[in-house]
Amino acid sequence: MIGFGGHAIIAGSRYPFRDPSTQSKLKENKMSASRIDDLINPARLRLGIKRAFTGDIQEALCELFQNAARAGARNIRITTDDRGFIYQDDGRGLRDRYDFESLLKLGESGWDQRIEEDQRPNGMGIHSLLAHDEVESVTFTSNLLSLTLDTRLWWTNYDYAAGFRDNIKTICFPAPGMNIGVTCSRALTEQLVKALTDSWQIYRSPARGYQGILNIEINDTVVDTSVQEDATPSVPLIETTYQNNRLVIGLYGKEGYATQNGIWVNFYGQMISVDHYSHFQAYLEVRQGRPISPMSPTRRGVIKDESLNRLCDFIRDSLFEYFSQTLIDEVDPLALGQFYHDYPGQASKLPCFVAARRKRYESGDDVSKMASLSAPQVLSYDNPPLLLADKARIVQEDGTAYSSEYGLHTFLELTGAAYKVMEADESRLDIRHLWWKPGEQTALPSGCPHIFHKAGQWGLGAEREAPSEWREIDNHVVFTFDDPNNWDVDNVDFTVGGADPQDFYQTDAWAGFDPQNDQGRSREEMSESYRESCECEIRNLIGNAVPKNFSWNDLLRFVPDGEQIVAVTPEYRSRRKHRPVSVILLLSNDEKVRLSLF
Ligand SMILES: Nc1ncnc2c1ncn2[C@@H]1O[C@H](COP(=O)(O)OP(=O)(O)OP(=O)(O)O)[C@@H](O)[C@H]1O
Ligand SMILES: [Mg+2]
Repeated sequence: MIGFGGHAIIAGSRYPFRDPSTQSKLKENKMSASRIDDLINPARLRLGIKRAFTGDIQEALCELFQNAARAGARNIRITTDDRGFIYQDDGRGLRDRYDFESLLKLGESGWDQRIEEDQRPNGMGIHSLLAHDEVESVTFTSNLLSLTLDTRLWWTNYDYAAGFRDNIKTICFPAPGMNIGVTCSRALTEQLVKALTDSWQIYRSPARGYQGILNIEINDTVVDTSVQEDATPSVPLIETTYQNNRLVIGLYGKEGYATQNGIWVNFYGQMISVDHYSHFQAYLEVRQGRPISPMSPTRRGVIKDESLNRLCDFIRDSLFEYFSQTLIDEVDPLALGQFYHDYPGQASKLPCFVAARRKRYESGDDVSKMASLSAPQVLSYDNPPLLLADKARIVQEDGTAYSSEYGLHTFLELTGAAYKVMEADESRLDIRHLWWKPGEQTALPSGCPHIFHKAGQWGLGAEREAPSEWREIDNHVVFTFDDPNNWDVDNVDFTVGGADPQDFYQTDAWAGFDPQNDQGRSREEMSESYRESCECEIRNLIGNAVPKNFSWNDLLRFVPDGEQIVAVTPEYRSRRKHRPVSVILLLSNDEKVRLSLF
């Protein structure tokens, strides 16, 4: 096996078992060994450890990369061939038999004090490779020593495993760093290559996160070591430090989605996601200390302990500070809204909230546009604009009031700019209700619906408290309704103020049209039917009127019993007009009936 050229072995690193202070520790361990034996069954536990690993090649690679980083390596090279793969790093390697011992003895580690304290190694990682079903043998070569292990015997033959020291061989040429030759199935080798290079698997590649720590190559191809996009906030808001490690907090998604992994920890290169549902995303890059506790044995998650709670609290408090201290104009309304969602308790103490300006009703809008809003804005609790609740309150003739689902927007020209509260502590806000007292009913021919009124008065009150002051609605058309319809304007429960009834059926009546409620029919079909129902109302209003494409039945409605139509004569507005505006029926009793065409 060939090592890297020009690397430096970290000379003089201290190993716990050679450190004088640890000599006494060893003694202590020995003394307590018999008592420990009362508590554990080492042989069984050892076999149990074999089953602690998942059998994913990603996991074994994780352990190799982690060891390389801990050994101070800068480069890893992996090459594959028919028989398996060779792993090489340029870290400090194994220097002597003691180092081989800490490599293979379960629960033993040979890292220096700093790593011991910060990362709490378990002395198990390399066993993920030895435990893999498809790994036949592993050869560790470092400096002048080499050891080959038959993995099957390693787990099944106690004498073979316990006597591994006898198999350590001295080699002629020093192999710098750590070299691990693995004989394994072709399938496993292929999985390994894919795990590091395949574009579908690259998301969970164990190399991701090591950028700046390790350069990794496989078969001369550079492996992507960057942090995966999903692990950092798509809209960063805060860049801070947590226990001296870089922490970025922001919005998970621009679209307001939430994530199940609201925290990602880059633990000395290894990416660990934390099961934490949130609209925010925090990325913690740990390079010193142990601000969270990774799970054993492979750090595939984070333990939900006090240290994780502290980190979560810190994220929450940093966001609170951010939203309370950033200038209102600079706060992203989406982000603030998410804070109200995720942390309602804290959010209620903020100086700002989210609201959206209500758009005015435009004649011709259908029901889908009846409650349109402008883009949300961040507003201050101190000096809020007019905030209006969704439903208008309508006072009926008998003095009782009811809330109406639609129609508030037709009053906005009267109220001026008004906002809908989106995310806020509503107890801190005075949200007004628009009240409407329609004027007296308009007298219409019989058969016409009694929905038209004089415009009447409006005012601002509370939900259950009428306004103390009323204003006249001059020259404005206002209306409300609860039930839109997709076929017939007659089914919409309109109350209309200040409108010319014919005009209303030609324009504003479309507000009650509900194209969403399609019942599988086409929009054209429904709007045709709705238009026809509006025209029918207009004919009712006109009185003597029939559709432009009238049938005999339409005409016969105007013929008294026992009489007949003798002649139908079209009437034109002028000589040049092509289409008649009305028809005159000559009846058998010599009477004439003029019918407008509409
Ligand atoms: N690439 C390497 N270079 C130098 N020494 C290594 C390397 N890999 C492993 N070792 C030595 O072997 C020991 C055991 O490694 P192993 O991965 O099994 O456990 P660990 O890293 O100590 O703990 P963990 O269970 O957290 O992985 C290490 O403590 C270290 O002394
Ligand atoms: Mg390890």
